Amino acid sequence: MSVKVAVIYYSSTGAVHALAEAVAEGAASTGAEVRLRRVAELAPEATIDENPQWRRHRDATASIPEAAVEDLAWADAYAFGTPTRFGAPAAQLKQFIDQTAGLWREGVLADKPVTAFTSAFNRHGGNEATLISLANVFYHWGALIVPPGYTDPAVYAAGGNPYGASSVTGPSGDGPDTAVLDAARYQGRRLAETTLRLLAGSRERVGHP
Ligand SMILES: Cc1cc2nc3c(=O)[nH]c(=O)nc-3n(C[C@H](O)[C@H](O)[C@H](O)COP(=O)(O)O)c2cc1C
Repeated sequence: MSVKVAVIYYSSTGAVHALAEAVAEGAASTGAEVRLRRVAELAPEATIDENPQWRRHRDATASIPEAAVEDLAWADAYAFGTPTRFGAPAAQLKQFIDQTAGLWREGVLADKPVTAFTSAFNRHGGNEATLISLANVFYHWGALIVPPGYTDPAVYAAGGNPYGASSVTGPSGDGPDTAVLDAARYQGRRLAETTLRLLAGSRERVGHP
């Protein structure tokens, strides 16, 4: 049996994109089928043009398919990534999430394992607050949150964030370092392995008419 994992993210300048690729790699390393999807951009092209890094990243990732709510119906498990924006998820990801009411109503999002990752400029700039904020959505869905916790040395090596992989871009503008990418790979692997165990146990739904 193989599981289906949707890695759905928003990234302006590439940090969360790098994490998303690492999460996808980790999930795929278990034999899972993975869809890597970026959510739709909401910013006007003229605004993107004002930031060369944003423009470069947008052009470089144009070939990555855009996320659709159908990806959530397809997948057995989800990993969501977003930059930290004033300590909360980016509007682009929230816009995608706000299109899921139909699936939520049908109970499609319930009982699905889910995990999240983020990136911020500052070490204490709201990484954890962003992940916890995103988790509020998962509670409403009745999804099963699969945090990394402190279940692997990779989590400690990346700074010890038990809520989800999180990178600190800082003034250097560099992307996530090797330790954070390893933690993201671990998080993807853990999500897929947990899902496999759940699906192997039972496909019966709990609590839906
Ligand atoms: C509108 C806006 C709000 C932001 N808010 C925060 C913040 O609260 N804390 C922080 O550390 N960084 C903040 N940042 C910086 C981004 O979170 C950070 O650069 C992140 O690594 C970008 O990820 P990306 O390269 O995937 O777009 C903000 C950036 C923007 C544009």
